[in-house]
Amino acid sequence: MRLTPEEQHWLAGEAGPGLRKAIEIVVALGKIYGAEDTVPVGSVQIAGVSYKNLGDAGLAFLHEWAAEGGHIRVPAYLNPAGMDLHDWRKLGIAEDFAHRQLDVIEALSRMGAVPACSCAPYYIGVRPALDEHIAWSESSAVSYANSVLGARTNREGGPSALAAAIIGRTARYGLHLPENRRADTLIEVHCPVESEADFGALGYLIGKQVGNAVPYFRGLGIATFEQHIPASTDTHLRALGAAMAASGAVALYHIEGVTPESRRDNMLREDARTLRIDSLEAGYAALNSTPLAQVDLVSVGCPHASRDELLEIADRLRGKRVTTRLWVTTARATKEAVPHAVEIIEQAGGLVVADTCLVVAPIEALGIRRLATNSAKAAFYAPGHSRVDVRFGTLAQCLETAVTGRWPGGPAEVR
Ligand code: F3S
Repeated sequence: MRLTPEEQHWLAGEAGPGLRKAIEIVVALGKIYGAEDTVPVGSVQIAGVSYKNLGDAGLAFLHEWAAEGGHIRVPAYLNPAGMDLHDWRKLGIAEDFAHRQLDVIEALSRMGAVPACSCAPYYIGVRPALDEHIAWSESSAVSYANSVLGARTNREGGPSALAAAIIGRTARYGLHLPENRRADTLIEVHCPVESEADFGALGYLIGKQVGNAVPYFRGLGIATFEQHIPASTDTHLRALGAAMAASGAVALYHIEGVTPESRRDNMLREDARTLRIDSLEAGYAALNSTPLAQVDLVSVGCPHASRDELLEIADRLRGKRVTTRLWVTTARATKEAVPHAVEIIEQAGGLVVADTCLVVAPIEALGIRRLATNSAKAAFYAPGHSRVDVRFGTLAQCLETAVTGRWPGGPAEVR
């Protein structure tokens, strides 16, 4: 791998152990994946922030790196933590967990990371440009950045993202190279795909089948836009990408005439295979892990909710009262941007929870066994990560459940 004189200087340890550790990680990955050199990155998004996943070993690793002089040199934003950093007591988080989680945030902040604690930094002003190289790590954020924004990132691990933030560069391989960004799988959709849950169910089905391929969608019924993607479509694309990254390892997809690279170039390879989708039923069936109608927690906002979603949820809950615990998870900056919507949701008895989500928070310790969500990604991970049963459906079904305490339409009905 070709290194600049500065990188060689770092690798020799002449700039201290913090920089040496960072360049060692980037070079090791580069060698594994055949990178010729490194590329500067415009921003970094760092996953592996929840103490639930990091544990004491991860926390010690961060403190050690910070003490070695690991200092971040490009804008770097943290993924969700294991709790709301301000209102953790309201969620019922244990003191011991909370103090360790705050310690994680302190170590990363000391290194120079921005404690945005969101998997949707693109909703709080971090929107990389088309073709910009970045190093992001949360899988739905990676999918969104690559596909909806047309930026270029591999799916970094927590330590490799931190390493990229410290040296300001990442190894140039995988999705940083234009030749790897063309689609190898054409997806022909022959059934209606309308709600965010439909897009999630579709994403689940595709991710399962294609693994880490680059899918190219045709027939999704999304209008072609000259300049921008409207809010509702944006929500759908986010749900699609998050689900494909969860059930498979899809880090980039294209939608014919909609996503930016497919509007500019022909992104479908001549030798692409074709998959046909005629129904979403199998996706809904797989994501509903329980026939039970009763739930303990309704959670929406995975990936983190946008302002538009908070406004829509407030609209739907205006004048109502929830009878089941309701979490709307979002970035703190998004929450602060729409205080009136937050007030309506909280007057109805819901909680607008910042900095965290139900997958990275220790919800099993909060007595939650049955969950309702409109996120295919959450429905996919929650049974394994948090040992809960799941009802999966639309935002309307989830909010109705929050109000009535029961999944609408009876146990057998999943759509
Ligand atoms: Fe984000 Fe948590 Fe979902 S990190 S994508 S809200 S699982």
